[in-house]
Amino acid sequence: MSNTTTLQLEVEKAKTSKINEVDFDNLAFGSVFTDHMFICDYVNGEWKTPKIIPYQSLVIDPSARVFHYGQAVFEGMKAYKDDNDQIWLFRPKDNFDRINKSSKRMAMPEFPEEYFFEGLKTLLNLDKDWIKKGLGNSLYIRPFVIASEPGVMASPAEEYKFIIICAPAQAYYGGEVRVKIADHYSRAASGGVGAAKTAGNYAAQFYPTKLAKEEGFQQVVWTDANTHEYLEEAGTMNVFFRIGDKLLTAPTNDRILDGITRKSVIEIAKDKGIDVEIRPVKVNEIVEAAKKGNLKEIFGSGTAAVITPVVGFGYKDKKWDLPKLTDAYSSVIKEAILNIQYNKSEDKYGWRYKA
Ligand code: COI
Repeated sequence: MSNTTTLQLEVEKAKTSKINEVDFDNLAFGSVFTDHMFICDYVNGEWKTPKIIPYQSLVIDPSARVFHYGQAVFEGMKAYKDDNDQIWLFRPKDNFDRINKSSKRMAMPEFPEEYFFEGLKTLLNLDKDWIKKGLGNSLYIRPFVIASEPGVMASPAEEYKFIIICAPAQAYYGGEVRVKIADHYSRAASGGVGAAKTAGNYAAQFYPTKLAKEEGFQQVVWTDANTHEYLEEAGTMNVFFRIGDKLLTAPTNDRILDGITRKSVIEIAKDKGIDVEIRPVKVNEIVEAAKKGNLKEIFGSGTAAVITPVVGFGYKDKKWDLPKLTDAYSSVIKEAILNIQYNKSEDKYGWRYKA
């Protein structure tokens, strides 16, 4: 069955739903997808009619640029359901702006705002039964763009696909998180693509993260590529350090992702009277604070990770455990963010967006 909105969004509904096959209490992050997906092709210099279709495999020529040169960008967003079955997004315009910023950096065409919002809202309302109520339950939304034009010439493609798929989600990290501070590998270099949410940034981390996992760490905290003296961000999160009562995080730049949860954390923390310092943070400062017992917390922030407290860290051949606090900044800030996301509190920032 097909119908058309004023925006000429074509909708083809799935004939049957897979929802009854899903165990919503035991979801591995990003492994089960909803019944529908959004797709829009870029051909001959323009985005064609956007479509919502049953979730399905793609047919793409094996020579397409995405497979050879990684010309691909993505976003991570979440939808939340409140007690009255209303669906909410969190700062979605920031994700929209960031995917276009990433696309620009990767020589890809920007996507029209109305296609994005109309497509996303229609998709979410069609698959609304996949969004479960309750703190911690959400629908992870993965918008992405791939260079689909056939041909292995190393130049930007002229054909692309903008796609949105959705996966019901619970916590990204199931257990305790320990991080390893990088002293050899690096994630990004000045002038490079670190600030873009481009596929290769993540693939490049898999090997060093695998090595860190073999040592008992879940994530690597990346340091600057030149000196490895300054802390930058973790694999799937921006990272915060609490020394005494101060909350520290690195400023964003062309190596560090401008995290939407990161900037929300900063604003909430400041509003709560926490002394936040956004400045280059030295590895040495963290190690010295840990030795003196002044390093109270490390936590990560991200869409998938929300606020993830870190229980310990390693640097070179040493390991430290962090104290278990009853008044952790991470808990207070996480609660404030979740209350906004799940429509449980007033949203004085205007971050909540009804889907
Ligand atoms: C997100 O938080 O949405 C991310 O992009 C992390 C992802 C790589 C799992």
